[in-house]
Amino acid sequence: MTYYLGIDIGTSGTKTLLIDDTGKVHAEANAEYPLHQPKPGWTEQDPEDWWKATAKTVRSVMKKSGVSADSVGAIGLSGQMHGSVFLDRQHRVIRKALLWNDQRTANECEEITSAAGGRKRLIKMVANPALTGFQAPKILWMRNNEPRNFSRLAKVLLPKDEIRRRLTGDCVTEVSDASGTLLLDVVKRTWSKKLMNCLQLDMDLLPDVVESEEVTGTLTPEAAKLLGLTTQCKVVGGAGDCAAGAIGNGVVRSGILSTSIGTSGVMFVHSDTPQYDSEGRLHTFCHAVRGKWHMMGVNLTSGGSLQWWVDSVLRGLKGVSEKNRYEVATSEAEAIQAGSNGLLFLPYLNGERTPHADSNARGSFVGLNLVHQRGHMTRAVMEGVTYALKDSLEIIESLDVPVRQIRASGGGSKNPLWRQMQADVFGKKITTLAVEQGPAYGVALLAAVGNGSYRSIEQACKSTIEVANQTPPNRAAVKTYRQLFPVYQQLYSQVKTSMHQLAHLQT
Ligand code: XUL
Repeated sequence: MTYYLGIDIGTSGTKTLLIDDTGKVHAEANAEYPLHQPKPGWTEQDPEDWWKATAKTVRSVMKKSGVSADSVGAIGLSGQMHGSVFLDRQHRVIRKALLWNDQRTANECEEITSAAGGRKRLIKMVANPALTGFQAPKILWMRNNEPRNFSRLAKVLLPKDEIRRRLTGDCVTEVSDASGTLLLDVVKRTWSKKLMNCLQLDMDLLPDVVESEEVTGTLTPEAAKLLGLTTQCKVVGGAGDCAAGAIGNGVVRSGILSTSIGTSGVMFVHSDTPQYDSEGRLHTFCHAVRGKWHMMGVNLTSGGSLQWWVDSVLRGLKGVSEKNRYEVATSEAEAIQAGSNGLLFLPYLNGERTPHADSNARGSFVGLNLVHQRGHMTRAVMEGVTYALKDSLEIIESLDVPVRQIRASGGGSKNPLWRQMQADVFGKKITTLAVEQGPAYGVALLAAVGNGSYRSIEQACKSTIEVANQTPPNRAAVKTYRQLFPVYQQLYSQVKTSMHQLAHLQT
């Protein structure tokens, strides 16, 4: 039997799992690391922490499973998208990596848009507008703000690709994650020389780019020794965590859409052709399925909003102990009727991407009344996040992309209240999988394809992924949400000016 490892370099931690060639999970392990926020809206991590977590979790799954090193055929890598690992000529990390939810690059986004000849031209070149989280504006930010660091810069890698470099010594990325740099010609699936020229950036800064199941190298002797594996073990391209999660959900053919609530919230739909939203509200990226694409809407603070509410605001309150904070909070929310009795929450706690693309958007509760209690507020937070996902669903449907099935994943599918809320807010049945393992599982399958255990990723998904549950919408709740959603949708433009004024006053 051959085994495959899937490693997902997430924002709060790394998850590693080991599957066999039938897709059965044999062991998994997690390791957490800190997130640094040196200023409001800035988010950074130390790539060394990702590497330590990788080594720790791989050693742990190998030990737990008892599988021999030489039966691990290949590794698939997934990770938080868009981040920038800056390397010098000797491939030493120059500074901490800037992450996907970092908001410092608003000026550089304008600079890119004007260098490309305007937003329309930029979207034509790379299928997407310049957004603060993407990688290209981070490179320009370093050029504009840290010229000494920039003068040392020789390569820029995405988070999971830095782990690949440590595993195999090669600087390589793959199409799904490369799409989120803003530097890939998404239609042609190669780097956009045109945009690199407009930005006066050297092509040598970029790693090679391959399709997601392609083998990019084998483990170096040092990495094999550290991880307890062999130098025959291959590493495949893998995928950005959104595409990897979608594969883990079996979203590899048209008509299936997945929702995922993790730190961010993602609505992801498969597309056989590279369609794009001319207003640039959705991202159009290469899928990790060879020759296919996907569109997605991303809300920056989804599970992150509930986490903020429960961990920062409810922390230390009477009746809410450290251990059962989430249980207490969500059971109080469950006792409240759909609609939180007219209380709305805007989940823009760290700016927003879809549909507003606004780094100065801020969160708010609107409609507070003396009748409202803690449970109403918790429920409103969860509903606000779900409305934000519905914003993306509406845009996807307006583009005539077929949506025949919605598969929920992440924390939002495991929590029964959030699952039902999604069915009710979207007014559609929600499907969940028998076993949902997320991005790490998706890239373990890509490793199995790359090593020849399956003909294609479509075949791998067909053989391993099983749909288990259907959650139908509740009619009364659907009616309530139909009344509230338009009110929610109007709020952003109504409070935008105040949000911006306040954002500038925040330190
Ligand atoms: C996707 C995105 C986030 C990160 C989180 O565009 O920014 O989902 O990948 O891990």
